[in-house]
Formats: sequence, C-alpha cells, structure tokens
Amino acid sequence: MSTKIVAPSLLAADFGNLQRDVEMVNQSDADWHHIDVMDGVFVPNISYGMPVVKAIAQHATKPLDVHLMIVDPDRYIKTFADLGASILSVHYEACTHLHRTLQAIKAEGMKAGVALNPHTSVHLLEDTIQDIDLICMMSVNPGFGGQSFIENTYQKVSDLKNLIEKKNSKALIEIDGGVNATNAKKLVDAGADVLVAGSFVFKSENPTETIKNLKEQIA
Ligand code: DX5
Ligand code: ZN
Repeated sequence: MSTKIVAPSLLAADFGNLQRDVEMVNQSDADWHHIDVMDGVFVPNISYGMPVVKAIAQHATKPLDVHLMIVDPDRYIKTFADLGASILSVHYEACTHLHRTLQAIKAEGMKAGVALNPHTSVHLLEDTIQDIDLICMMSVNPGFGGQSFIENTYQKVSDLKNLIEKKNSKALIEIDGGVNATNAKKLVDAGADVLVAGSFVFKSENPTETIKNLKEQIA
C-alpha cells in the first residue's frame, strides 16, 4: 500500500509568525505544504497572493501544493511555476478548457491538479482523469478554513476511486476541508491518498504532535 500524505494548510497558520509555522511543518512528519490562493471572485474571500507565496517558498523544504481558488487560472500558471509550486490545482468550475489548462500546468513542469466543489460530480472527470495527477476534493465549500466536514464526501471518494481504477489513472485523491481525527481514517479507507488539514493542525495545542498523530492514524 502506498504511503498516505498529510498536507497542513497554511491558511490556518499565524501570519504574523509565518516563517515559524512553515518551519514547524518542515520539521514535522507532514509531507507537503498546502497553499490556498483566493481571489475574492471565485470564492467570497481573499487569502494571500504571490508575495506571500514567495515568502513561504523561501522557507519551505517540502513540496508546495498550491490550490488556486481563482477565476481564469490560466493567467497565472507560469507565475506559480516560477514561485516553486510542485503541484498546481485549478478548480473544475473555473476552467472552460480544462484539458488545455492541465497540459499547460504540466508544460511548466508541475503536477496537474483539479479541485472539485462539493456540488460537482466526480463523473465530470471521466474524460480527463488520465491527464490528472491529483484531484482536490473539497469537503467544505471553498473560501474559509474551520468549516464542518460534509458527510457526502465519503461516497464521492469511493466513486472517484472506482473511476480512477476503471480508467487506469494514477491520480491521487486529496481531501480538503474539515479534516480531523474523526474522519481521517475513514477517508483513507474510502480511497483518499492526501489529507489537507488547516484548523485541526494549527489551532491545536501542539501542531507537530497533531501532525504526527494524524500520520500514524492513516499509516
Ligand atoms: C478552504 C481551503 C482549505 C482550508 C482547510 O477553502 O481550500 O485548504 O484551509 O481548512 P480546514 O482544515 O480548517 O477546514
Ligand atoms: Zn485548499
């Protein structure tokens, strides 16, 4: 069985101590840094943009998993490649020419991810699944950290897992939103490969320990 990945979401970090929090992730058992970019148009919130991602990249020692919650993401593919993103996820709902966008991400040397809103069916990926490296399945409505996990996600994960197997795709399934100790193991059992956790990690008393426990729970 392949190793499961934990990606703490820096959206829940203390921005006044961003370097400290990035270094905490570096030194922890986490695998990736999850970076949420919001434009205030695709989602009703603005998080941070390129200068902050650049600052994170200067201190991060693990792969940068960048989740774009922005309209017209094609405009910024090269920018995020230059900033050091390893994985770049765009929203299905924001792409008119998804296939072209995926090729453009790969042409810049990054892994290509597609994020799905809770209302978006996994079956819409039937014709692109072989071109996708990662599906970021939203288990909350994107835009904010600290929301409650949507229970329908388990069903979506197993449907997506079946689709991936049927189509012989190598895509990883990432779960984003409301992940905690109660749902982590169940999500991995349903077929998830990557768990993003924001509040659960950064609002805990000992984030390093929380990451370690999460990792052990899904090993
Ligand atoms: C939500 C973001 C998530 C968020 C998760 O729009 O995509 O990555 O940071 O935060 P929690 O784990 O607090 O739900
Ligand atoms: Zn995210």
